[in-house]
This record gives sequence, C-alpha cells and structure tokens, in this order.
Amino acid sequence: AAISMTDGLGRRIDYLRISVTDRCDLRCRYCMAERMQFLPKNQVLTLEEIALLADLFIARGVRRIRLTGGEPLVRRDIIDLIHRIGRHLDAGLQELTLTTNGTRLADHAQALHDAGVRRINVSLDTLQADRFAHVTRGGDLATVLRGLDAARTAGIAIKINMVALKDINADEILPMLRWCDGQGFDLTLIETMPLGETGEDRTDHYLPLSHVAKEIEAHHILTPIAARTGGPARYHTVDGLGVRLGLITPLTRNFCADCNRMRLTCEGKIYMCLGHDDHVDFKAALRSGGLAAVEPLVDRALRRKPAAHDFRIGAGAPSAAVQRHMSVTGG
Ligand code: GTP
Ligand code: 5AD
Ligand code: SF4
Repeated sequence: AAISMTDGLGRRIDYLRISVTDRCDLRCRYCMAERMQFLPKNQVLTLEEIALLADLFIARGVRRIRLTGGEPLVRRDIIDLIHRIGRHLDAGLQELTLTTNGTRLADHAQALHDAGVRRINVSLDTLQADRFAHVTRGGDLATVLRGLDAARTAGIAIKINMVALKDINADEILPMLRWCDGQGFDLTLIETMPLGETGEDRTDHYLPLSHVAKEIEAHHILTPIAARTGGPARYHTVDGLGVRLGLITPLTRNFCADCNRMRLTCEGKIYMCLGHDDHVDFKAALRSGGLAAVEPLVDRALRRKPAAHDFRIGAGAPSAAVQRHMSVTGG
C-alpha cells in the first residue's frame, strides 16, 4: 500500500506548507506590523535543512508542497531549493507550488517553470496603484503586474489571492473578478484572519464573504464546483465568465474537518494548525540528532493536530488569536 500519514482524528495529511523565510519586501496591513523584528539567520533553517525535511515528509506520504513566507522569492538561492524539491515530482510528489507577492516574479518566472512549478498563487488585493501602496505600506503595483505577465508567458497558471477588506477593497471585488477573467487567472477571496498584532484593528477590515458572494450574485450566477485543489477554497464557476472564483471562509464557515496539512516554519517548527500555538521543534532535533531524531517527531505532530481553529473577529474577541504573524507560518 502507498505510504500515508493520518492524524489523530483520521484526517489524511498529504500536504505540507513550508515557510522559507519570515522576511518580506512588503508590509501588508493585515499580515505584518509596520516595524517587524525578523529572525536572526542562525534561527532560520538552511536551504539544506529544508530540503532534508521535505525529503522526509515526502517519504512519509506528502504529495503536495507549497512554499510560502514571508515572501519566498526574497530568500537567496530559493530557486536551488525549488529544483532540489522538484526532483521528487513524478516520484512521489504530485505538485510543488508557491504563494508569492509577485514582486520578484519577473526575474524568476522562467526558472520556476524550469524547476517544475506549474501553478502559483499571487497575493493582490487591489488594482489601484495608490491603494496597493497603502495596503502593502509602500509596494509598487506595476512591478507585480509585470511579474504576473512574466509568469503567464512562462506557462505558469495563476490564481490571485485577494483578502477582502471592508475599508480598503470592498468596492473592487467585481472589477477584480472581471480583470482576472480577462487575464486568464483564477481568483480567490479570503476572509482576514486574526494572526499577530499588526497595529490595525481587524474589526475595521473584516468583511464576511457571505455578504460578498451575495453582491457578486446580483451580477453573476455562481455554481459550486465539486472538485477541490487540496486547499481550503471552495471554487465556483461564474456564469458568463471563464474565471473560477474561490472562497476561503475561515470565519464564516471553517473547513477544518477536511484539513489535510501541516506547516513547517522557517524556524524549523511544525505547526499542526494555523490558529494554534502548539508546535513541535524539528530544528532542535535535526541539529542535535540528525534525521533519525526527527523521524519520531512526525508521529508526535500528527497525534497532536487539533480539530479546528477558533478564529473570531469582533466584539469580545481578542485582537489576535495567536501572537505569531501570518508571515512566520506562511498562511
Ligand atoms: P491551493 O488551494 O492549493 O491553491 O492553495 P491555498 O489557497 O491553500 O493556499 P494559499 O497559500 O494561496 O493561501 C490562501 C489563503 O488560505 C491564505 O490566507 C492562507 O492563510 C489560507 N489558508 C491556507 N491553508 C489554511 C488552513 O489550513 N487553515 C486556514 N484557516 N487558512 C488557510
Ligand atoms: N488573513 C488572511 N489572509 C492573509 N494573508 C496574509 N495575512 C492574512 C490574514 N491575516 C494572505 C496573503 C497571502 C496568503 C498566503 O495569506 O494575502 O495571499
Ligand atoms: Fe508580505 Fe504576503 Fe505578508 Fe503582504 S501578505 S506582507 S506580501 S508576506
């Protein structure tokens, strides 16, 4: 029988997200604080350590890997790591992808495709340059748009991730949907999650996607697609358009019962859930006892995976469910 991992609640775990760095060249308001203290280098896994842990997880039954950050493409020599992990494609690993902010895509798109990346998710919350600069605290929209062009030219399928933000981009959801359709991209809308203090009040930003979907449905019939990509989004076709619309609704309708994933942070900790602080320190074991010391920790992590997150936003809810920022765990 094929090797596979199952957690304590019988969920099959075959998807690993690896945050390769906590650093990012942007500072999105819902993700980071204006001034972030980044990890010192010796606390961050080396590329070789990440590759060894990826090998181990693939041997244990991981079939899809997504690299995240921070921004994965700001890590030096990241393409080498992608090639290294990409060697498992067609030999156990079914998909190697990344979630990126797009600022360095123009430089790396072809190399990503050469390494076996066929699909990426690009974070883009607005198509207005001044708003983009505001949300990202200083980013340049045109650079990201050039990156998207380069990725498409390289033959990489693109899904745009748009965090729905009441006071920032609520009026841009239909324009974004139509723009993605014209570009040949898919679009996923995401409810903002309360991770880490960002210096912003999340109740000011939070926009339930149940409202947004109703608004879209005044213009387009949305039909749910049964097929899943392995991620938390529920996809829909949009009548009259070719774009697929994904909805990620951690607040209004969680998807934890189907959870298939674990997360390796750039610090070498395995987090079993985005919304909990409980983790297993793989780096300490790896640095003291090598892979043999890490092997038994996989089962420990699987047993400890919680049933669900407990994200809440609004009156009475804490401003952050966990103190760790999204950029550390990689979303
Ligand atoms: P695919 O479905 O494989 O395309 O990817 P994805 O949508 O899972 O990944 P992506 O990195 O683009 O993340 C999109 C959003 O989903 C981000 O806001 C993530 O934080 C969120 N997300 C991903 N996995 C989980 C999860 O297990 N739980 C929660 N609550 N959110 C998640
Ligand atoms: N809530 C929801 N999504 C977030 N992201 C970053 N921070 C948050 C948050 N607090 C998104 C990014 C990126 C993905 C990995 O997670 O926009 O697309
Ligand atoms: Fe960087 Fe992504 Fe966080 Fe924005 S959401 S600051 S692009 S890691």
